[in-house]
Amino acid sequence: MNSSFRSVGILGTGSCLPEKVVTNHDLAKIVDTSHEWIVSRTGIHTRRITDDNTATSDLATNAAKIALERANIKAEDLDLIIVTTVTPDMNFPSTACIVQSNIGAKKAAAFDLEAACSGFLYGISVADQFIKTGAYDNVLVIGAETLSKITNWNDRNTCVLFGDGAGAVVLGPIEEGRGILSTYLGADGEGGKFLTMPAGGSRMPASIQSVEQNLHYIKMDGSEVFKFAVRIMGNAAKKALELCNLRVDDIDYLVPHQANTRIISSAAKRLNLPMEKVYVNLDIYGNMSAASIPVALDEAVSKGEIKKGDNVVLVGFGGGLTWGSCVIKW
Ligand code: UT7
Repeated sequence: MNSSFRSVGILGTGSCLPEKVVTNHDLAKIVDTSHEWIVSRTGIHTRRITDDNTATSDLATNAAKIALERANIKAEDLDLIIVTTVTPDMNFPSTACIVQSNIGAKKAAAFDLEAACSGFLYGISVADQFIKTGAYDNVLVIGAETLSKITNWNDRNTCVLFGDGAGAVVLGPIEEGRGILSTYLGADGEGGKFLTMPAGGSRMPASIQSVEQNLHYIKMDGSEVFKFAVRIMGNAAKKALELCNLRVDDIDYLVPHQANTRIISSAAKRLNLPMEKVYVNLDIYGNMSAASIPVALDEAVSKGEIKKGDNVVLVGFGGGLTWGSCVIKW
């Protein structure tokens, strides 16, 4: 790393989950599935779902306020807000601009960033560049999703997997030797077809036909995404470690994207990392796309499982296809 760059750390974390809990038994009343099938194939027991009046920016705003308080940073002192999401309140204005107004971050620039489930890691990497070069001091990165709004509740292949939530972090300059040690991002557009929401964009604008054909919902080839995820999780974690001259043995804590316990445990096995060092909460929240990693990180930090000086690896994959990883000395 260029030694003239500043060290960048996470100064505070926060999260917000909707109150309503939907169990596997609830879903078994809607589609042909069972609690046993969902648990054995995914590890998910419950997920949180927003009500009709709650949008992504509402969850994002609450998570942001908690992260700011814990970071001891005032909203007026933020230079930039990045919201990573595939479920923005609307196409424009950006959800980041809505959050900026909600929290009163008057001097902050604001934009949304879309890299599906890898979004939070893309956001962290962008924030890192702005802060380490000295362009900005305080950056808020939020991963927030209301996937329930784009889930087809009659499609058992997808409706059992997803949940709603938001996680936020405030990043800023910190003392040398701590903070973000490396970030690594990747994409493979060839695999984009495996995970899509076909309608609602310029290729297929909303129409009566697009709604009738359920094209505003998530479509996924689960087994293709599964194969990709198992391969990429371990590789991406190793790449971020290589970039900062650390080894798997140096990892104190791994916070992976929360899509499927089978994906997480095979990635841990490929890395030769014991599961005690891996944070898993998808059993209660399901897959919250861009919100999964920041919510898990906030929980691990709040519970005291991540401690000062720990080497923490964040790793994720998602639609695009995309992936990302990051090593942080906490
Ligand atoms: O954040 C990134 C987004 N997505 C992911 O990470 C998802 C990655 N993929 C996965 O997690 C897994 O592929 C799934 C959990 C989606 C599916 O597990 P699988 O072991 O790959 O099952 P499968 O797709 O091979 O399906 C096996 C069978 C199929 O029946 P047939 O065709 O063999 O008769 C499915 O129709 O299971 C059936 N099935 C279900 N059965 C009961 C699919 N969904 C369900 C369900 N309940 N909910």
